[in-house]
Amino acid sequence: MRIPCCLSVFALGACSSSEPPVPSPVYYGEVDAILAENCVDCHAADEDRLAPFSLAGYDDAVLAAEHTPIAFAVMNRIMPPYYADDSGACRTYHGNRWLTDAQISTLVAWANGAHAAGDPADATPPPPPPPALDGVEAWLDPGADYLPTQSVDDEYRCFVVDPGLAADQFLTGFQVRPGNGSVVHHVIVFALPDAAAEADALGRDAGDLALGYPCPGGPGPASASFLIGWAPGNAAVRFPIGTGIRMLGGRRVVMQVHYNLAESDRRVDRTTVDLALAAAVADEAAILSVRADVDLLPGQPDVAAIGARALPPGAGGRIWGVAMHMHQRGIGGGVRRVVGGDACLLDLVNWSFHWQHLYWFDTPQPVAGGDRLEVTCHYDTSDDRTPVRWGEGTGDEMCLAYVYASQ
Ligand code: HEC
Repeated sequence: MRIPCCLSVFALGACSSSEPPVPSPVYYGEVDAILAENCVDCHAADEDRLAPFSLAGYDDAVLAAEHTPIAFAVMNRIMPPYYADDSGACRTYHGNRWLTDAQISTLVAWANGAHAAGDPADATPPPPPPPALDGVEAWLDPGADYLPTQSVDDEYRCFVVDPGLAADQFLTGFQVRPGNGSVVHHVIVFALPDAAAEADALGRDAGDLALGYPCPGGPGPASASFLIGWAPGNAAVRFPIGTGIRMLGGRRVVMQVHYNLAESDRRVDRTTVDLALAAAVADEAAILSVRADVDLLPGQPDVAAIGARALPPGAGGRIWGVAMHMHQRGIGGGVRRVVGGDACLLDLVNWSFHWQHLYWFDTPQPVAGGDRLEVTCHYDTSDDRTPVRWGEGTGDEMCLAYVYASQ
């Protein structure tokens, strides 16, 4: 992206180019609109906010512009932490926070410039609070407080939770309610398909004195499957209308909570999840996973893993959304549908282990029997001396796509 010379950090007030000067953006009505829509629910004024500083209101925004790398973070698409290219070159996504190039230029110019206020009468009204989730009929609640281990930066804790379903029901949406918002960094709920998987999870729970059990790589039971994922800043999630994922009656689930304790206030946590349920849905959906084998050369700034899954003949339906999963070395990736048209489903321009989202398409994508879903993961192995292979540990890597699909 080209930054006009007048706006670069070093050229302030020293613009000698013959290009017409770009009007300087002002806070009220311009910058505040971008911040309100894309930043302020995490960078709130409230001390209990998720992000380490506030971007709410003129004074806080100026303070942040003076003391934090706003221009760097938005130009490199580190912030907001949503990495699916929404420009239309691949797909577009519902409710995504993808800054346009024009919005990035405005923020960069304002943050690196004189932080002009403009006229408070033009202030952008704060966005309305997100609507509550309807149809909540069950809750996931570990049943007690948990005090995260304070001696580590990242802790992964699994809780075996009974949603109390007498019979099969369809999950149509959910809302995660972090107990201690300053440490809960993501929540993944895994379904347990049978009694053996449930007994395995309960055994792990019983084997640890504190509530739950440690689960850095995954929930443990090999047959556990991804049900829902949540990262901070996501409000209530409603699955596409008419779709839902079957939850088995009488079966517990595993709720994995990632605690990021770098800024811990040492308070306990009791995160719960509201579940919106329906007895029946028009289109039963399922999460398909697509996996690539991982065997990466060390010492490479960009090395890829590619894998695919063929849909069985006769299969057909729609894909509504896609997520990816890698560990710490990920730098980007993508998911495509090949055969029967070659369609880009997701193009991640960046990756952060801390921000794993399910990106919902604006328009669901058709798939047919024989189609292959292909996942590509890119990694930086510059700091490795030995090959990096698949595994659950933080020193290992994974390459997975999760696809929300219905018939
Ligand atoms: C979903 C929550 C969320 C949203 C939305 C968000 N941020 Fe952040 N931001 C964070 C968190 C949390 C951190 C602390 C670092 C981290 O965990 O990645 C952070 C850190 C930052 C930093 C410091 C980065 C550094 O390297 O020190 C800047 C600057 C920033 N955010 C700017 C923004 C701007 C500007 C927007 C909107 C255009 C935005 N953020 C949107 C959560 C968010």
